[in-house]
Amino acid sequence: MNLESLLADRLASSFAAVAGGGPVDPVVRRSRRADFQAEAALSLARRLGRPPREIAVEVVERAALADLCSSVAVSGPGFVNLTVADELLGRLVSELAADPRLGVPVTPTPETVVVDYSAPNVAKEMHVGHLRSTIIGDATARLLDWLGHRVVRANHLGDWGTPFGMLIEHLIDLGESTAASNLSIGTGSKLPIGAGSELSVAAGSELPIGAGSELSIGDLDSFYKGARAKFDADEAFRQRSRQRVVALQGGDESTVRLWRRLVAESESYFLAVYDRLDVLLTRPDFVGESHYNGMLGPVTDELDRLGLLVDSGDAACVFPPGFPGRDGEPVPLIVRKRDGGYGYPATDLAALRHRTRELGATRLLYVVGLPQRQHFEMVYVVARQAGWLSPPARAEHVGFGLVLGPDGRKLASRAGDSVKLVELLDEAVDRAAALARQKNPRLDPAAVAEVAKAIGIGAVKYADLSADRTRDYVFDWDRMLALHGNTAPYLQYAHARIRSIFRKAGGPVPTGVPVSIGAPEERTLALELLDFGAVVGTVERTLEFHRLAGHLYAVAFSSFFEHCPVLRAEPAVRDSRLVLCDLTARVLRQGLHLLGITAPDRM
Ligand code: ARG
Repeated sequence: MNLESLLADRLASSFAAVAGGGPVDPVVRRSRRADFQAEAALSLARRLGRPPREIAVEVVERAALADLCSSVAVSGPGFVNLTVADELLGRLVSELAADPRLGVPVTPTPETVVVDYSAPNVAKEMHVGHLRSTIIGDATARLLDWLGHRVVRANHLGDWGTPFGMLIEHLIDLGESTAASNLSIGTGSKLPIGAGSELSVAAGSELPIGAGSELSIGDLDSFYKGARAKFDADEAFRQRSRQRVVALQGGDESTVRLWRRLVAESESYFLAVYDRLDVLLTRPDFVGESHYNGMLGPVTDELDRLGLLVDSGDAACVFPPGFPGRDGEPVPLIVRKRDGGYGYPATDLAALRHRTRELGATRLLYVVGLPQRQHFEMVYVVARQAGWLSPPARAEHVGFGLVLGPDGRKLASRAGDSVKLVELLDEAVDRAAALARQKNPRLDPAAVAEVAKAIGIGAVKYADLSADRTRDYVFDWDRMLALHGNTAPYLQYAHARIRSIFRKAGGPVPTGVPVSIGAPEERTLALELLDFGAVVGTVERTLEFHRLAGHLYAVAFSSFFEHCPVLRAEPAVRDSRLVLCDLTARVLRQGLHLLGITAPDRM
């Protein structure tokens, strides 16, 4: 049990007695005035018609806190200020140090959680919005997994739908092999798409794909734009594209083969980004929109049988309640278009139904930008109406804001088009390598490369996760790579500095030594460390990773490291402080790990 609930438990009964029975939440919070503050007297005052201070005084008289607190006092209008006894702090820190889970219990109520994230679109460049989704989704998957939930990572790739008609026709026009050699991304990286890949040559196919040949991953943007330009300008091409969509949906063999080719090419590119980013997504997590194709008909039929489907003349829609448009008329969620095709909303309905019914998920998370909020809210309402989403199952849109450039506008490259993620990540690592060399000229090249990856990628992730998810944030190299402030490199250096104390100390981390809390800096650090479990618990519910980031920053920023000598202290104090140091390093390392960030031992 954490300190906060230990105190709250004790106070609850005296509050209840003063209130004349019935449970009262004492509302215990960390406070700057004491270690903790209970503020329930203020709200209770209205209910009881008594001055809050009087209530607080009575609560303090009744409360049995002598074994927990060194001081309990009423302050201000009626706060109860609690100062935790040093001996208790020492004992709790010793227990924490012996806990491999650092005060974060495995959840007593494990759930199947589907995390829908990343979800870039085939034959298109990934943009910074997908970067945010990938980073936040990865942290979500790591944190929930560590807590003991069954996490299903769902990369809902945009790999289906009308654009594929034009993309396949464009591929045919370019000629597959020419297209392949034209497709090369800026950095010139080449990924082998070989025999083991899904790209097997269909027997009798008219267009050759060299098995085992080396295809470069695409300059996806220009491929897409080329197709788009022709589609907009050329009626015959449009015609062919439409027929091609029909052929694809009908399962025409050579069309499907070309479609697979495009998908495989993009998947390799996405995997290259994931590899650079060091996220958990792998090929088996790719469950694109195409996966739900066969479910769209049955889903539509089911909506129809339930009486939810409305033929609006133009399309088959559902009108979920609570979404009035500008004219006050309800906004439709389009299920099937007039031409019989299904779109994005139908696929999301099918995916949701699949996730609750087949996968048994009770928590469905959608890590997608805020502009799609209404889409998801409508999908959830329809799913509830259809009975596909009923308690305990619930769905949450884990929405996020935009990534802005230094000019405060949507982040773009110098040429004005979307930023290529691979280039962005390479730049992060290059900049971090310069930083690492400057900071420690003695690091050998292999160590520099490793540290540079940890710092560069860590900085990009941390800049994202340490900001309030629902706000836009400015992508600023200098700020995210700064060695001071709430940044990844700062936390990583704090961790490495502690590890170096142990290298200097020689010998293992002392175990079983009592931790004694004396200096005020030790108290503050101890209280922060003891709060780790509660913070992780909050993030489990809210997926507000900036709270975890802020907590780690408070731990690393502790004045303990400036004010409390460790190796020079007398033996008992030294051992006690070594335990505090080790615990701090472990909390930093585990906390960063939950954010998807590596903490090297040496920097
Ligand atoms: N591919 C979509 C996009 O790039 C995101 C998909 C999000 N997930 C979902 N289930 N709709 O905007």
